[in-house]
Amino acid sequence: MKLVDKPAKAHKKDASAPQSGDKDASKVAQGRAELIKKPAPRANIENYEQEYATFNWDDAKKEISYFAGGKMNAAYNAVDRHIHDGRRNKVALYSVGANNKIEKLTFQDIYEQSNKIGNALKKLGVERGDRVFVFLPRVPELYTSTIAIAKVGAIAGPLFSAFGPDALRDRLIDSEAKIIITNPQLKPKLDAIRNQLPDLEYVIVVGGDKAQLGEREFTYEELVAGESEKLQCAQMDPEDPLYLLYTSGTTGKPKGVVHVHNDIVGHHMTSKWVLDLRDDDIYWCTADPGWVTGTVYGIFGPWSLGASVVSYEGRFDAASWYSLIDRLKVTVWYTAPTALRMLMKGGDDVVYAHSLESLRHITSVGEPLNPEVLRWGHKVYGLPIHDTWWQTETGMQLIVNLPCNPIKPGSMGKPLPGIYAAIVDEDGEELPPGREGKLVVRPGWPAMLREVWRNEEKYKEYFKIPGWYFSGDNAVKDEEGFFWFIGRADDVINTAGHRVGPFEVESALIEHPAVVEAGVIGKPDAERGEIIKAFIVLGNGVVQTDELLEEIKEFTKRQLAAHAYPREIEVKETLPKTRSGKIMRRLLKAWELKLPTGDTSALEDD
Ligand code: PRX
Repeated sequence: MKLVDKPAKAHKKDASAPQSGDKDASKVAQGRAELIKKPAPRANIENYEQEYATFNWDDAKKEISYFAGGKMNAAYNAVDRHIHDGRRNKVALYSVGANNKIEKLTFQDIYEQSNKIGNALKKLGVERGDRVFVFLPRVPELYTSTIAIAKVGAIAGPLFSAFGPDALRDRLIDSEAKIIITNPQLKPKLDAIRNQLPDLEYVIVVGGDKAQLGEREFTYEELVAGESEKLQCAQMDPEDPLYLLYTSGTTGKPKGVVHVHNDIVGHHMTSKWVLDLRDDDIYWCTADPGWVTGTVYGIFGPWSLGASVVSYEGRFDAASWYSLIDRLKVTVWYTAPTALRMLMKGGDDVVYAHSLESLRHITSVGEPLNPEVLRWGHKVYGLPIHDTWWQTETGMQLIVNLPCNPIKPGSMGKPLPGIYAAIVDEDGEELPPGREGKLVVRPGWPAMLREVWRNEEKYKEYFKIPGWYFSGDNAVKDEEGFFWFIGRADDVINTAGHRVGPFEVESALIEHPAVVEAGVIGKPDAERGEIIKAFIVLGNGVVQTDELLEEIKEFTKRQLAAHAYPREIEVKETLPKTRSGKIMRRLLKAWELKLPTGDTSALEDD
């Protein structure tokens, strides 16, 4: 175990340590005083200030492969080019099954297999711009299918395998999906809503039994059998769509965030600088490709650099995770604060029962990384954890702790070279250091969202003041240019790093026959950052029992997803509403947190 020399007192828990999301400036100052200086191993970026001053995105394009006339394909960059650059026989994917069996696929394997399914998709009539969804657990076909969809110029729609029928339906209807690739275990969720999907032409089932399939349903295996291992990647305009990922906002159903082939420029540079990937790395991103982290930094980014990627189908468990790191000699690890908090809860003994000596770089994303966790990680792994901030919409890491920079525990770090981020007021005026405000970014970075699927109005909201992309987060910047997360500016819930829109949960809740009204908030939670809490009104004559509340929770979990159900439900006689009938979540939250209720003049029964 590599232990970084640190004063012993820094290893002790410190109750007064700055917590992420803490608005108190004195705590920010305390965090600053606690600067973690790191030894300087060779990193892919060595001088932040110099790169920040000189870098421009055209430089990065030199590392990307283009076809004649400036055409490109992100999948060509992720896979095909490694057939010619000496990495052909290098392991691209260590796919670890739920049974812990390891399957190794080289870049040549991924190339051939994605070509075969790509050819099959073309035979099914898939054309440029068609939406093809992947609803699979983390099996090799998830990776080959996603690459194949991009190769034929269609738009890949990643779907988290834990999604229930409601979550599936919203996404497949809105996008007018043409094909979905799934497996026999997940297919029943699709079958439950199939008659509501007039645009869905074919279903492809990985490992399916042909005898069990219906009309316009194929097994993956029958489709690829006999297909050619050769396929010319579609030569795309850099601005042509690559993938479509649904994400939650404060109102309405999830929105489809559209990303383009040009994103690969950003995927490549951030995987190089932030993940610090090099040719001999074995890299494990713990996020599922159903989320943006898993798509960008579990597939396209690391493969663009030709790194070996680990995918693990099994569930979370400290000993299994550490064993996996030891077995595969994982060197670079990208994970999330909730996972790290759970590992911390698992205790030090299980860490020390493993070697973990292969690890050299740890990064984190998705929620505030508590200084306490960072310090613990530093102690037990001997490495600092590098927080990164970004979003589904930003398509790549933007505010980061780079390997070459010191870390201020609790801070998200500094803007990546090529990125200008700022804190502004409601009018878009930049605020001085130390003042809390809206976190905005100067538009134009390579992986910025290009469209909200068929929702121009929503897209424009992100750019409501010319010259800025509004992230929806509140933050503060300190004198030295480090950014500190404060919280969401809207009602979006972040539970265990998963972004959940209260409206989706409320909609699922009121589908239950006993529930007539529902208001949903995020409630702070030590382990998950936030948990989902629902306030509900029961129908006339419905009696509140523990069994009923349990059943409502289960119902929501089944319909939506396991991460998106309310862990707490409170029954109310009525819910506070505005005169126009909107449930006032702000008030529910204030009640829950015993905070002042603020301006309630819009309440309907005032
Ligand atoms: O609120 C911020 C939080 O997660 C949101 C983005 O969620 P999503 O689009 O699902 O993407 C997550 C992974 C890229 C942000 O608006 N968030 C993300 N990273 C951090 C964070 N909050 C605090 N610190 C972070 N490092």
